[in-house]
Amino acid sequence: MDTQTNIRNTQYWNIDKDAALPEQLDGAAKVLASGGTVAFPTETVYGLGADARNTEAVEHIFHAKGRPSDNPLIVHIATIEQLEPYVLPYSAVARRLMDCFWPGPLTIVLPVRPGALSAKVTAGLETVGMRMPDHPVALQLIAASGCPVAAPSANRSGRPSPTLASHVREDLDGRIDGIVDGGATGVGVESTVIELVGERVNILRPGGVTIEALRQVVPDVTVDPALQLKSDIEPADANSAASDIAGQSPNRDITAPRSPGMKYAHYAPRGTMHIVCGESAVQVTDWIQRAVDEAESRGDVTGVLAFDEHIQSYHADVVQSLGSLHALEGAAHRLYAALRTFDEQGVQVMYAEACPEAGMGLAVMNRLVKAAGHRVISLSPSRK
Ligand code: TXA
Ligand code: MG
Repeated sequence: MDTQTNIRNTQYWNIDKDAALPEQLDGAAKVLASGGTVAFPTETVYGLGADARNTEAVEHIFHAKGRPSDNPLIVHIATIEQLEPYVLPYSAVARRLMDCFWPGPLTIVLPVRPGALSAKVTAGLETVGMRMPDHPVALQLIAASGCPVAAPSANRSGRPSPTLASHVREDLDGRIDGIVDGGATGVGVESTVIELVGERVNILRPGGVTIEALRQVVPDVTVDPALQLKSDIEPADANSAASDIAGQSPNRDITAPRSPGMKYAHYAPRGTMHIVCGESAVQVTDWIQRAVDEAESRGDVTGVLAFDEHIQSYHADVVQSLGSLHALEGAAHRLYAALRTFDEQGVQVMYAEACPEAGMGLAVMNRLVKAAGHRVISLSPSRK
């Protein structure tokens, strides 16, 4: 890491999201416009922004995060007019999706206009992921800066994405030029990233816009095979001891990733996490509690991540609920903060309940599986 990265004097701005005035964002906008890096809230997670046309500024994002340079950045805009200079003509389907979901948590991969953005943003690809965030602070900041704003999530690479400004401070204080604190983000997981294949929408990363919502606008929506949620599941005998499983190595992705970000470890807490699914709630809760008891007897600090419906069943050092199984938006909203809490409490071994992969459940399971390094235990022998 170069020494420059560590000598930034990080400025802080506190903004009330519901009463944000453009002039309150002038300071942060000037830093962006002059080639600095500023973290800001969006409706999904905090982003770390820089002028997407300025290679030096964009390089600083990669340095500050410790991000691999072959993982491209999403470019954020405040208006549809701001899109045109940076992309080549796009399809009517793309336009329909923009009209329906922007501003909002949908990133659309479009053909990039050659030379319009720093090549560091696109990691050399011929496409760029574009998004218009649905957050008053983000929109005003982007508009005031006059820049297309490249912004990955504002976490150190591999850590859970930040849903509070304090998470950004934890990871990046002293490494970036500023942080705009606009309170907690809403959705809690990142935007849905899609590409268009003719009339078909292909989901490269599930996120804040659900597959069901996309299907209401475009009938043909697929989830990229590289996501392979189901294939990650390791079948386990319901009676097998947790210790038999804990030593197994995670399954590897079998399909080449279409979205470069898919191949990196993400959102990972420091301890070891397993996701557990089964045929009944009682099967899962019993198995997890047994595994926790074993880990405790070995002297490990233990954690459980579960849903309200079963939370009373668990005794561990740190037990956290993601809310009700019937309101998975709540789980998305809480997930990353919960992972950070496990780290703060020094938890070494964690078990998480799986949830159905419908609605926001698809994005929640995608992030959980990544946080667990693809260690998924299936207690039902029938679910191969
Ligand atoms: O909600 C979000 O999307 C947040 C906020 C800050 O907007 N941003 C975010 O950015 O999550 P990041 O960099 O953490 O994730 C960007 C994802 C990566 O998985 C990357 O590989 C993918 O989008 N991506 C970016 N450009 C792409 C492209 N041209 N083709 C395919 N995938 C792309
Ligand atoms: Mg990220």
